[in-house]
Amino acid sequence: MSLTEEEKSLIETSIERVADIAGDPAAQVYARLFAEQPEMEPLFVLDRDGNARGHMLAEALDCVFDLLGPRAYAPTLIQSELTNHDGFGVPPRVFATFFRVVRDTFRDILGDAWSTEMDAAWEALLSDIDAFVEEQAKKYGMEV
Ligand code: HEM
Repeated sequence: MSLTEEEKSLIETSIERVADIAGDPAAQVYARLFAEQPEMEPLFVLDRDGNARGHMLAEALDCVFDLLGPRAYAPTLIQSELTNHDGFGVPPRVFATFFRVVRDTFRDILGDAWSTEMDAAWEALLSDIDAFVEEQAKKYGMEV
């Protein structure tokens, strides 16, 4: 993990500001996900109340906070969800894009409050996650 303390703190600040401005950003995150990857929308057909979508976003953000801090469980969670998701039709290539969709949505929500430094910090985190996902997918013989 190559993030500096400053980069970690910029990412945390960006997430906290999104919560201040938008409350729960789930609607915006999933609107962007389904606009970019329409073939993923039908997978959520049984999630009529949005609970699973909300829970998934919360888990992904918890993962980000863990990667910025103790790194106690995020690698294991990502590893096991990668296999679970492949099983229900989300290949590793698409799985990793969720974190990018979150970053892009947060950038839109923050508007002028989104800084170049925040952008670079998120980019560093996303490259780490992409590399980890690719490594795990190869290890378990999955198509990336
Ligand atoms: C574009 C990428 C992704 C897609 C399309 C996707 C899709 C899904 C779908 C269809 C479900 C099942 C919903 C249901 O039960 O009806 C689900 C559940 C879940 N996903 Fe994802 N997922 C993605 C990325 C991720 C990532 C990156 C994480 C990382 C933490 C994650 C964590 C979870 C968890 C923890 C659940 C269980 C939620 C629950 O049912 O309570 N997903 N996902």
